[in-house]
Formats: sequence, C-alpha cells, structure tokens
Amino acid sequence: MPLNVHIIGAGSYLPERVLTNHDIESMLDTTDEWIVARTGISQRHIVGKDQHTSDLAVWAARHALDDAGLKITDIDVILVATTTPDMIFPSTASIVQYKLGGEGFPTWDIQAVCSGFVYALAQMDGMMRAGMFRRALVIGAESMSRILDWNDRSTCVLFGDGAGAVVLEAREEEGGIIGSVIHSDGAHRHLLMAHHPHPGASPADDPLDFHVDSAGVAAVEMRGNEVFRMAVGKLGELVEEITGKHGIEQSEIDWLVPHQANFRIIQATAKKLKMPMDRVALTVSKHANTSAASVPLALDDLYREGKLKTGDLLLFEAFGAGFVWGANLVRWSRAC
Ligand code: UT7
Repeated sequence: MPLNVHIIGAGSYLPERVLTNHDIESMLDTTDEWIVARTGISQRHIVGKDQHTSDLAVWAARHALDDAGLKITDIDVILVATTTPDMIFPSTASIVQYKLGGEGFPTWDIQAVCSGFVYALAQMDGMMRAGMFRRALVIGAESMSRILDWNDRSTCVLFGDGAGAVVLEAREEEGGIIGSVIHSDGAHRHLLMAHHPHPGASPADDPLDFHVDSAGVAAVEMRGNEVFRMAVGKLGELVEEITGKHGIEQSEIDWLVPHQANFRIIQATAKKLKMPMDRVALTVSKHANTSAASVPLALDDLYREGKLKTGDLLLFEAFGAGFVWGANLVRWSRAC
C-alpha cells in the first residue's frame, strides 16, 4: 500500500515580549497608521536576551509533540526551517534535538528563507513516502529581530520572531500532504538579502540594540515595492499550478494558510482563489512576518481556534528572498 504523510500534531511558540507599532513610533520616524495601512501589521513578538532560535523551536516542538500524544523518543528525524540559526554550525536542528532530549536520529536545517517551512514539508513528504522515516518533527523557527537594522524604518517594522511545528507520520490511509510545488529564481537575489556574517546579533544581546553600524555587518535590505509585485504575481501563478497539478478545483480549498508578509499580498492571493477572507488564516497583524515560522504559526492559530475540521483541504503558500516560492496541499487529518 502506498504511504501518505499526515500531520498528526501541531504547536507553536511566541516570545513573551510584544513590540507594538506605537512602541516603534517612539524609536523611529514612523506611524502606526503607515504600518497598518501598508502591511496590516500592528505588533510583533521579539526574543529577549539569551533567547535563541532553538529555544523558540523547542517550545513549538514540545507543544506539537504533546498535541500528537508523543515523546521525543517516538521521533525519527528533525528538520528545522530557519534563516536565523543559533550559529553557522552546528545546525539549529541538532541543538533542538539535544534540548528535547533526543539522540541518534538525523537532524538538519533547511534554508529557503520565508518559504522554508513549505520547502521542508515538500522534502519530508518525499522522504517519508519513500519509507525513509515514519515520524518527523518539522519546525519553522526565526529570530528575525536579530538580523534587522533597528534604525531602518523600511524593514524593521515588517518582521517578528516565533516558531511553529508539526509532527508528521507516514501511514497507509488516504489524506495528509497531497502534494507540493517549489520554485526558485536567484536572478532576483539583490532585491531582498542579508549579508554574512550571520546571525547579526549575538543571542547574548538584546536584538533591539542591534544596528548595522554597531555590529559592522549589513542587516536585511529590501526593495519592498519590487518584492511586493513579484510576490503577488508568483503566488497567483502558484495557486493555479498546484491545483492544476493535482486536479483540484480552487473552490474545493477550505482554508488558505499563507505566508504572513503583508495583508495586501495575502488579500491578492485570496482574490485569485475567489476565497472570502474568513477562510484565510490571518496572523500578520499580531505576529508580523516571521519568515519560515509564519505558515506553521498561522496553521496552529487556526487549529487552536477550533476552525479546522478533519478532512478540510488546506493550501499553504509562501514567497521569499532568492526568490524562492512554493505551496503544499494538505488534507487535514487531526480532529478539532
Ligand atoms: O517575506 C518576504 C517577502 N517580503 C515581502 O513580501 C514584502 C513585500 N513588500 C511590501 O510589503 C511593501 O513593499 C512594503 C510594506 C515593504 C512597503 O510598502 P510600499 O507601499 O511598497 O511603500 P514604498 O516602499 O513604496 O514606500 C513608500 C514611502 C517611501 O517614502 P517616499 O519615498 O514615497 O517619500 C518610504 O520612505 O513610505 C516610506 N516609508 C515609511 N514611512 C513611514 C517606508 N517605510 C516607512 C515606515 N514608516 N516604516
């Protein structure tokens, strides 16, 4: 019997500190009105001193394991999608394995920036269908605040920190991840980037103290307008591609779970799918753009609100620096 890869648990974690637009008004020449009107963002969570990306990932993983009724010893592999690893090496996934008390099984990170979680699900789905692993922890985790220039109003207002996780299980029953499409085009790499060395600020520091000049490295740089246009275009093509590939009518999709970069980008994709906004997972106003964590955070938010029913058809999608973009179609296997 062919195997299908099901989501059997979900969880997330947000650092305690909340930074509102009004807080940023007192730091920079910006306004709550501008940020809300251009992005839909009202606040974001920010890591504290001594809080690492792996710490966020560990809490999200614990919540997902609890939700699945499993322990770390039941897991065969950990994959962490992050663009803000604790350090260049070892991987954040190895650190997460250690902090969760696991050992022996494989761990690695995947770096596809904001599309990292969608890429990770696509990769793990293929490997688990081929029989390599039975149960996996797939985590998206970021401390974006550590690679921002807190003097640059055009980028620092856009991002936040957090983590989301799912537990996957390969089973013979129908459902789970139906399929994925992933793409990349490095010709646009200069439109959105962060230079080495990485990460920009030491986890021992408060990220809000981090400025380009003081650390001597370049932080996130973006030509926002051009990124915006490409994101809307590519995400529109993507929904056509993934539904066409799997012979699914767009009207069959119950929930859109998009990357949370900008409310206007999400709205454009929902319009393309003719989906009302009350069928869209929306966390951008409270989480901002948490890069690889944004899709699993939005998924867990929807799940915790009790909105997902067993058998619902979900579309995850994301677009990020590179550019890299991708989507997964998922039949929801969990009960509410
Ligand atoms: O997750 C990865 C993918 N990333 C994205 O998808 C982000 C895509 N881009 C965007 O979301 C939008 O382009 C932004 C939200 C970044 C910017 O919105 P925009 O409508 O494209 O504004 P803009 O860049 O054209 O800037 C308009 C003006 C500029 O002033 P001038 O030159 O027109 O006088 C900026 O200097 O807004 C100014 N501005 C600000 N003003 C107040 C830029 N940032 C701010 C700010 N507060 N924080």
